[in-house]
Amino acid sequence: MTASSTGPSPAPAGHPAPAHTATTSEPPPGAVGTARPRLEGTAKVTGAVRYAADEPASDLAHGWVVTSTVTRGRIREIDTSTALAMPGVLGVIDHRNAPRLDLEAGPFFGPDGGLHLLQSDEIPHSGRPIALVVAETPEQARAAGMALRVTYDEEPYDVDFRLEHPDARPATSFFGEDATVGDVDTELAASTVVVDERYVTPEVHGAAMEPHTATAWWQDGRLQIIDSNQGPFMVAMTVATLFRLEPKHVRVRSAHVGGGFGSKSGACGPQLVLAVMAATVLDRPVRVTLTRNQVFQTVSMRPATDQRVRIGADADGRLRAIDHTAAFEVSRIADYLENCTELTNTLYAARAIRTRRTAVPVDILPPFSVRGPGATPGSFALESAMDEVAERLRMDPLELRLRNEPSVGPVSGLPFSRRNLIACLTEGARRFGWAARDHRPRRRKEGHLLVGTGTAVASFGAGALPSTASITAETDGTFTVAVGASDIGTGARTALTAVAADALRVPPERIRLLIADSDLGPAWGAGGSRGTTSWSWAITEAAAQLRSRPGGAALPLTVSCDTTESLGRLPLMERHSYSAVFGKVTVDPATGEVRVRRLLGMFAVGRVINPLLARSQLAGGMIMGLSMALHEEGVRDRATGRHVNTDLAGYHIAAHADVPDIEADFVPDYEPGDPSGIKGLGEIGTVSTAAAIANAVWHATGRRQRTLPIRLDRVLEAHPPNRCHEPAG
Ligand code: MOS
Repeated sequence: MTASSTGPSPAPAGHPAPAHTATTSEPPPGAVGTARPRLEGTAKVTGAVRYAADEPASDLAHGWVVTSTVTRGRIREIDTSTALAMPGVLGVIDHRNAPRLDLEAGPFFGPDGGLHLLQSDEIPHSGRPIALVVAETPEQARAAGMALRVTYDEEPYDVDFRLEHPDARPATSFFGEDATVGDVDTELAASTVVVDERYVTPEVHGAAMEPHTATAWWQDGRLQIIDSNQGPFMVAMTVATLFRLEPKHVRVRSAHVGGGFGSKSGACGPQLVLAVMAATVLDRPVRVTLTRNQVFQTVSMRPATDQRVRIGADADGRLRAIDHTAAFEVSRIADYLENCTELTNTLYAARAIRTRRTAVPVDILPPFSVRGPGATPGSFALESAMDEVAERLRMDPLELRLRNEPSVGPVSGLPFSRRNLIACLTEGARRFGWAARDHRPRRRKEGHLLVGTGTAVASFGAGALPSTASITAETDGTFTVAVGASDIGTGARTALTAVAADALRVPPERIRLLIADSDLGPAWGAGGSRGTTSWSWAITEAAAQLRSRPGGAALPLTVSCDTTESLGRLPLMERHSYSAVFGKVTVDPATGEVRVRRLLGMFAVGRVINPLLARSQLAGGMIMGLSMALHEEGVRDRATGRHVNTDLAGYHIAAHADVPDIEADFVPDYEPGDPSGIKGLGEIGTVSTAAAIANAVWHATGRRQRTLPIRLDRVLEAHPPNRCHEPAG
C-alpha cells in the first residue's frame, strides 16, 4: 500500500492524509473544537431544505385527524355518510376498520395506550384521536372531518392531579430506585435550620416550531415513512412492533426536523400511527400533519409536578439532610417517570438523603419527556429550597453550594468521572459580578422597579447509548460515514462531520455524512442529551477500525461497528454535565411583571465539538428555562377536563422581547470515559435556569415564588400593590 492519499486509489483512513496527519495526538485544525456554521445553514435560511411535510410524493392522499370532544367515555356512533359523499374523500378510518395493533407494545415503560389509536370505542382523555378522514387534498379532508357526526356516551373523568389522590402510587423505577441514605428525620431534628416547602410546576409542552407530520406508503412490500421525529431507528422499531411487521420491512427517514424538545422523542407520534393505518387500508401514500391545536392535544407534554423538599443544615451551612418527595401526574393508559429527584441524588453532600417519586394517574394524555425531563422541574424545587436555606442562614447562596460539594456520589458512593461544578460557579460568579451582591432581599431599586439577582446550579446525566455506525473509504479519498442519527436543529450533522474528520485524521471536506434513516442501522435518538455522544462514539470506533486495517486493501472498503460492548465495559461512575446559571431580574410591584435583564450560564459539558453551535444550543436551553419560569403553562379546564390553551396565542412562550442578552460559556472540561471526551449539552441549559430566576425574584421582592410560572397575578398576590412602596426592611 502506498502512503500517498492523493492518487486515484488512496489508502484507507489511517494512512498519511495530506495536510493534517500530525505526529501528535492534537486534533487537526478545522474539526473538533473549532467554531463552524452549520453545514445546512444556508439551505435552511434560503428555504431549500425539505422538512417532512415538504417532501413531494406522487399520488399523495391527505389525512385529517378527528379528535374527541369529550374527556372520557365511549363513542356511541360515528356517522360517516355525509363525509364519505363529499368531494375527494377516499375513506374514513376509525376503530371499526383500523388495522389491529399489538397492544402489548411499548418500548419505554411497558404497554403505551397513547399509541393504541383507533383500537376501541373508549375515550381515555380529551382530544383523543378517534378517526382519520382521508381525501385527495388537505382541504377536502378537513371539510369532511368537520362533517363527521360523532355521538358519545360520556363518563365521569378525573383530571385533578393532587398529592392526596387515592390512586397515588410509587413511580416506576425505570431510572433507578428511590434513595435512602442515613436517617433523614434524625438529621432534620438536629439541624439548625430546616426548610420544608412545596414547589409546583405545571404541564409544559415541547411546542416545537414544526408540527408533527408523517407520510407513509407501501412500496414493494416495504413500509416507507417520512416522519418528523427525534430518532428514526427507534420509530421504525416501534412501528414494526405495533403493526406486527418484520423490522426490515419498515424504513423511516427524518432528514430535517424543526425541533422536538422531547415531543418527538417518544416511541412514535400519533401522526405516524394514523398515516400507516390509512396507507395500509387505502393502499395509497398518505400524509398526516397535525395542526398546532392537535399537537397540543395529542402529543405528550411534561407532567405537572408537586414536590416537597425538606433540607436541614447546620449554622455553618453544612447540609445534614435532604428529603425530596416528588409527585407528578401520569395518564391512566400509559406509565411514565418524571425523574425529579435525579439531581437530589448527586448534587450535594449531606449526612442523610431520601428521595421518593410518586405517580398520580388521572384521565389525561400520556405525558413524556420534555426539555430536561425530571431534572428541570426537580431542580426548580431543589435549587429554590437551597436558596431558602441560604436565606434562613443569612448566607451567600453561592457559598452554601461551595460548602456542600461531595467527593463521591452522595447516594451511589461512586466516584465522579469529572466534576467541574465549582469551576462553573466561581467563574460564573466572577463574570456576573456576584461578589458585589448584597444577599439581603429587596435592597435594590431602579425607579419603581425592584431589582434582584439569583443563581442555581445543575447536573445532568452524561453518557452514551448503544449505536452503530459504518464508514466507507471511497476510491476518491473521501469517506462516507453512515449513522442513524437525527438532526433536530441541534447541528448534529455539523458536529458529527467534525468528529468523523478527526477520527479519520482528514479534513471535514472529505467526509460525506449520512444520517436520519433507519436503514443506516440501530442508533439512539436525539434525546436525553445523549445523541451526539452516542453517535460520535460509534463513528470514532468505526474510524479506529478502519485506520487499523492493514494497508493495501481494495477500495471502496466499509467497516461497521456497534458500541454495545464497549459501553458495557465502562466502569460505573457518576457521569454528569454541570452548570451554574446567574440571572438578574426586575419586578414591577404595580403590575407584578417580572423581566429578566441578564442571564449568564457557565457550563462543564466535556470537550466542546463546535463552540458556535454549542453556545447557541445552551442559550436556547436557557431561554426555555426563562420561558418555563415566567410563561409556560398548560391550563386545564376543570369544568370540561380539556386543555384550554392549545395554541401559541394562549400558551405563552418567551419571545424576542422577553429574552435579554444571554451569555453561555464553558469551563475547560473533558469526559474521561468518552472516546472524544464529550458530554451531552442538549438539555442542561434549561435545567437550572427557572430556579435561578425564581431566586432572583425572591432577592428583588423578598417573597418566594414556589409555583411556576411566576405569573403577574402570583407576584401581586405575594405582594399586594398597596404595600409595595413600604421602605425596604
Ligand atoms: Mo429529550 S426531552 O430527552 O428529547
